[in-house]
Amino acid sequence: MPSSTHALFIAYPAQGHVLPLLELAHRFADHGFAVTFVNTDHIHGQLVAASPELEAAGQQDDGAPPPESGQVRFVSVSDGIPPDVDRNNLGTLTSALMSSLPPAVEHMIQNGNFRCMVVDYAVAWVLGVAKKSGMRTATLWPSCAAVMAAALHLPELIADGILDKDGLPTSKQIPPVGELQMNLAPLAWNAAGTEDAQRQIFRCLSNSLKALGQGTVDLLLCNTVKELEEGVLSEHPRPSILPIGPLPTGLRAGKPVGNFWVEDDTCLSWLDEQPDKSVVYVAFGSMAVLDQNQFHELAHGLELSGRHFLWVVRPGLANAVDFPDGFLESVEKRGKIVTWSPQHSVLAHPAIACFVSHCGWNSVMEGVRNGLPFLTWPYFCDQFINESYVCDVWKTGLRLVKDAAGGVVTREHIAARIEKLLNDSATVSRASELQQVASRSIGKDGTSFNNLTDVINAMKG
Ligand code: UDX
Repeated sequence: MPSSTHALFIAYPAQGHVLPLLELAHRFADHGFAVTFVNTDHIHGQLVAASPELEAAGQQDDGAPPPESGQVRFVSVSDGIPPDVDRNNLGTLTSALMSSLPPAVEHMIQNGNFRCMVVDYAVAWVLGVAKKSGMRTATLWPSCAAVMAAALHLPELIADGILDKDGLPTSKQIPPVGELQMNLAPLAWNAAGTEDAQRQIFRCLSNSLKALGQGTVDLLLCNTVKELEEGVLSEHPRPSILPIGPLPTGLRAGKPVGNFWVEDDTCLSWLDEQPDKSVVYVAFGSMAVLDQNQFHELAHGLELSGRHFLWVVRPGLANAVDFPDGFLESVEKRGKIVTWSPQHSVLAHPAIACFVSHCGWNSVMEGVRNGLPFLTWPYFCDQFINESYVCDVWKTGLRLVKDAAGGVVTREHIAARIEKLLNDSATVSRASELQQVASRSIGKDGTSFNNLTDVINAMKG
């Protein structure tokens, strides 16, 4: 193992952000870095509850020795919110972080002898502290480059009248970006609930952009594949976005993957008993919520399809997780329901035929990497743009669409789309082609492989 170089990683407190950043941290550790990985106390508590083998957090003042070369050590800091306040309000959470994180990180840097710092883009404003100490810096965007490019052009979008001064969308449409017709309305800063929450998220992203303008960020990394977003990346030369994906989160035997919920591995032995390409996998990531009516309609749709299915019913997926009468008995022989799956192993399993997904970018990259066709069901934010990549640009999936009259995706539609997708050989074979593209990019001398090698060398200095 090469001699240790200490790297400080700081995550944004959400599942879809912690997972790819932690994977990147493990990559750094594989290359001889000692990594200190910082979560908020609240998130760290969730990680420990889900993976008890995860060591208790070293608090920032505990005087514990730094991690060794090749190790990732977890540290947690306050998010600045009292314990009883709702952390699902992203506006409150982000605003509190903007006050609480910089002094905590400054303290760590003074005591840590770090060579470099890598943070989620949503907290890139904290990198100013690192630059004062002469550290190398990088930021990871966990979604697609198309949305990252929009976040890097907020002033221009405001000047062009596409966003108002608070980042809220006007009726003016953004011109197509590469092959993609973008719609900024559902994006992060506009999907955070109340207008106040939207303004806080917008302020946070604006502060990250200001940090870039002040030269505090050396490298902008994105969990994407150059060949899959060629149009956007070629239309967006500066500042340069480095695609390093897909980051294969979750496949590290014996190393914490950063789940917020306990993985139910029994679905893997259940999958072992199913024929190849026979199972519909249904999962909506960590934040999507279905109303009770829609939840029932989905259950009926899976029942009606007659197909085998594996369905992740996370706590909080529905207002009350209450299956229709008789549903569990009816699907007992061909359905498996878990609260959280080892999604990476599931998607790589030969029994999986297709992925019914909310189109969170991590899920999209994981589906692509495993050559799966999608049925798309976005919930909010970038998920609508990610859906557009899948269905319109790559053509590796079909949309699930709400019924205009009832406002739900109906059971008949769900069953019919599953059947249509599984018999759509063009879509299925394009999904396999994309898998090859993604595999080449992370294989030796592939675009993502080379970018990541350059990043790691640059951070070592
Ligand atoms: C959020 C946004 O929705 C997403 O669009 C953004 O890009 C990142 O933050 P989330 O909604 O949780 O993330 O979706 P997604 O990006 O798909 O991330 C979920 C992660 O949880 C994936 O890495 C997936 O493998 C993992 N997962 C999900 C499991 O390990 N098990 C499960 O049962 C479900």
